[in-house]
Amino acid sequence: MTAHKRKKIALIGAGNIGGSMAYLALIRELGDVVLFDVVEGLPQGKALDLNHAAPVLQSSVEIRGTNDYADIADSDVCIITAGLARKPGMSRDDLLATNAKIMKSVAHGIKQYAPKSFVIVVSNPLDAMVTLCQRETGFDPSMVVGMAGVLDSARYRFFLSEETGVSAASIDAFVLGGHGDTMVPVRSNTTVAGIPITQFVDGARLDEIETRVRKAGGEVVSLLKTGSAFCSPATAAIAMAESYLKDQKKVLTCAAQLDGEYGYKGLYIGVPTIIGCSGIEKIIEIELTEDEKAALDVSAKAVEELVASLPA
Ligand code: LAC
Repeated sequence: MTAHKRKKIALIGAGNIGGSMAYLALIRELGDVVLFDVVEGLPQGKALDLNHAAPVLQSSVEIRGTNDYADIADSDVCIITAGLARKPGMSRDDLLATNAKIMKSVAHGIKQYAPKSFVIVVSNPLDAMVTLCQRETGFDPSMVVGMAGVLDSARYRFFLSEETGVSAASIDAFVLGGHGDTMVPVRSNTTVAGIPITQFVDGARLDEIETRVRKAGGEVVSLLKTGSAFCSPATAAIAMAESYLKDQKKVLTCAAQLDGEYGYKGLYIGVPTIIGCSGIEKIIEIELTEDEKAALDVSAKAVEELVASLPA
C-alpha cells in the first residue's frame, strides 16, 4: 500500500443508484470509493466491474466493495441509498417502516466509522429518512442533508427545456418542500437565462408541467416496473458530494434542517442551500408568492406528519 491523499467516498447501498454513483465518481475521479451493501457479493461484483472500466477511462481512483462497515473508516462523504425502492402503485411514504429500520443501522455504522463525514441521504421517504439519520448520528445538521431538490429541480428544468426548446442548462428552477406529491415548484423564481419563465410558457401549461414534475419519480417507476429512477438521483447526489469535496459553494436545493428559515425550526425540507467545505454553509430564503408559501406550508405539514410516524 502506498500513502495517498485522495478523498474517500462511502456509498451505503450498492443498488442501481449506488452503482451509478460509483461509476460517476470513477469517471470524474472524485476520490476512492467504498461500495457497501449487506448483500454478499453485490458490492464486490459491482466494484470489480467498475475497476475493469478504470483502465479504459484512464481513471486512477480505487473502488472497493464490502459488507463490513469498518471499511468506510474515515470517509469524507457518505451517501446513503440503502433501503427498498418503490414498486408501481407505491408512494415513497409506503417505505417508511422498513427503511427506518435500515436507516438506524446505517446511521450507527457511519457514526462509529466515519464520524467526520458529510452525509447525503437518498433513501425514501427522503425527508423522514434524513431526519432520522441526523437524529441517530447526532451529527451537526449542517453535515447531514437529503438529496431531492437537485433532482426535482432538474426534472422541472428538463420539462421546461422540452416545452421552450431552450437548453436545460440555461434554465434555472427551484422545487422546494418535501420530496413527495406536495413538493413546490417555485414558478416565480424560475427563469430562462434570467428572464421569467412566464414570458415563455403560459400559466395553464405551467400548471400541467408542474403537476408532471410532482409525479415524475412515479412516472419513471411505472415505466420501469421493477424499480425507481437511478441515473438522475445518482447524478444529483454526486453533484452535492462534489460541491462539498471541492468547496465549490454551489447553490443546490437540498433537504436541510431549518432553523427559523421559511418559518420552521428543526424541520428538514427542501430549500436552496450553499454547499461547500463546511457542509451546508447557508440556507437561502427566497421570496415566495402567497400561493407558493401556502403550498410550502402544506408540504411542510405532510413532512411533519411523516416524521411524527417514525418509529421511536
Ligand atoms: C425519485 C426517487 C429517487 O424521485 O425518490 O425518483
